[in-house]
Amino acid sequence: MVKVAPSILSADFCNLEADIRRVSAADWLHVDVMDGMFVPNITIGVPVVQSIRRHTDMFLDVHLMIDKPARYIDDFCKAGADLLSVHLEADHPTRIADALRAMEANGVKKAVALRPITSAKAVLPYIEQLDMVLVMTVEPGFGGQKFMESQLATIREVRAIIDQYNPGCELEVDGGIAPGTAELVVEAGANVLVAGSAVYGAEDPAKAIEFLRKAT
Ligand code: DX5
Ligand code: ZN
Repeated sequence: MVKVAPSILSADFCNLEADIRRVSAADWLHVDVMDGMFVPNITIGVPVVQSIRRHTDMFLDVHLMIDKPARYIDDFCKAGADLLSVHLEADHPTRIADALRAMEANGVKKAVALRPITSAKAVLPYIEQLDMVLVMTVEPGFGGQKFMESQLATIREVRAIIDQYNPGCELEVDGGIAPGTAELVVEAGANVLVAGSAVYGAEDPAKAIEFLRKAT
């Protein structure tokens, strides 16, 4: 069964509580944290995640697009994240391993994320301990970008690695997911779909979520 995780990057940050309620039919809530270093954009940090946690019971899927994420794992866990994704490009492998250890110690689900330049094989050192792999289908940083079809090959390769080493691991895709591309990524092996503009740009977000969930 496909899960849908609306990205609040496309929400109205002045009406965030209402905009979270509009997507309460979704499986997860995707929260994009950007530091202006790892990606050119700056979004939200720990206090906002803390506030979101106080206002919803939804599963908080927190995507850290920040340099040296190990520094902030404890803070985001305490703020109420249910799952954290750290980018493999954001630090040395030993520090990525530290970040994953910190998630484990906090009882939070563990994920690594791949920019489009990063090959699927980069997940191999971590795969057995992961709850999820996130494959970016755009360059991280902004909502509303065009889906990169070249990432379908990476999704397929990650799916094969997951099936071989850790079949319970989820495979999330993020960027340009909408009716038309959702079917392609699901066919390639993704089972969690992040969608910002396709959900918040729809007249009826609940219907958009249901439509994406049925993608086959
Ligand atoms: C981009 C973010 C995405 C973004 C997706 O760097 O990681 O989560 O919100 O937006 P759409 O679905 O509009 O491409
Ligand atoms: Zn994201």
